[in-house]
Amino acid sequence: MPTVAVVNQKGGVGKTTVVLGLASAAAHHNIEALVVDIDPQGNATTGLGVFEPTRGIDTVLAEERPGGLAAVVESTGWPTSCGRRPLVAASSSSLAAREPQLANDPLGAQDRLAQAMRDCRQPLVLIDCPPSLGLLTINALFAADSVLVVTEPGAWAVDGVGRMLQTVERIRQRRPDGGPEVAGIVVNRLGRTRDARYWSDRLSEAYPGSCLPAVHLRTALSEAAAQSLPVHVLGARPGAAEAAAEFDVLLARILGEDGGMIRSVGDGGW
Ligand SMILES: Nc1ncnc2c1ncn2[C@@H]1O[C@H](COP(=O)(O)OP(=O)(O)O)[C@@H](O)[C@H]1O
Ligand SMILES: [Mg+2]
Repeated sequence: MPTVAVVNQKGGVGKTTVVLGLASAAAHHNIEALVVDIDPQGNATTGLGVFEPTRGIDTVLAEERPGGLAAVVESTGWPTSCGRRPLVAASSSSLAAREPQLANDPLGAQDRLAQAMRDCRQPLVLIDCPPSLGLLTINALFAADSVLVVTEPGAWAVDGVGRMLQTVERIRQRRPDGGPEVAGIVVNRLGRTRDARYWSDRLSEAYPGSCLPAVHLRTALSEAAAQSLPVHVLGARPGAAEAAAEFDVLLARILGEDGGMIRSVGDGGW
């Protein structure tokens, strides 16, 4: 069960877009993904077509609940034509008030999500994180096997990624298993401007070997999110097929260089 936390302390860089794109790729290849939405804004939840969740991740984090996640997992509103529909542990606005409350736990509440996910059996879990380094993101870092840092190719991106990686390193020092691993850095919204290329090159130089294939700027991606549809079913919409292909490649990289799991669980369409 690879559990991947998708992180950046900055908002608007594309964390949710990458989570939804990877969930779409997983569905297309018949892999049942679970999206755990711990951002109080709930954009992944609505992007998955869930508008009034009956349960939510907030109740799981309210107190220590080992194995408690299963009770709040629900099916998503994506069409069955997308393949194996993902599942979601939905966000709710009440999650915003949870973070300061977690900070009051004298024993430390950094591993509540890890405890709740103990019995999780999905072949892929994607945790969509809020744009901060607060206790919700820290919970994701304690629960995840690996971390995907999403960034834009812009000024301060190198510094922002560096700060995130320092936090990951601090978690690694504290976790008995030495996790999470850094799955890599995804440059999102890569356009064709010289500026974008410049900052993307700076990131590759600063983190050699850690940059994964980029996700390009494509209107189809914001349309997919706005329509609560997976990008793989947007069909003939310009850029949709290209965006879908980029997430296929990214998913294969996350699941292992050779895509072994995709071949064993999926439909063989790689
Ligand atoms: N590669 C992309 N191409 C086009 N629009 C994008 C892309 N990535 C993100 N967006 C848009 O940018 C906005 C912010 O992205 P989002 O994924 O919500 O960021 P975050 O989760 O980091 O706050 C959204 O409106 C989204 O649709
Ligand atoms: Mg988001």
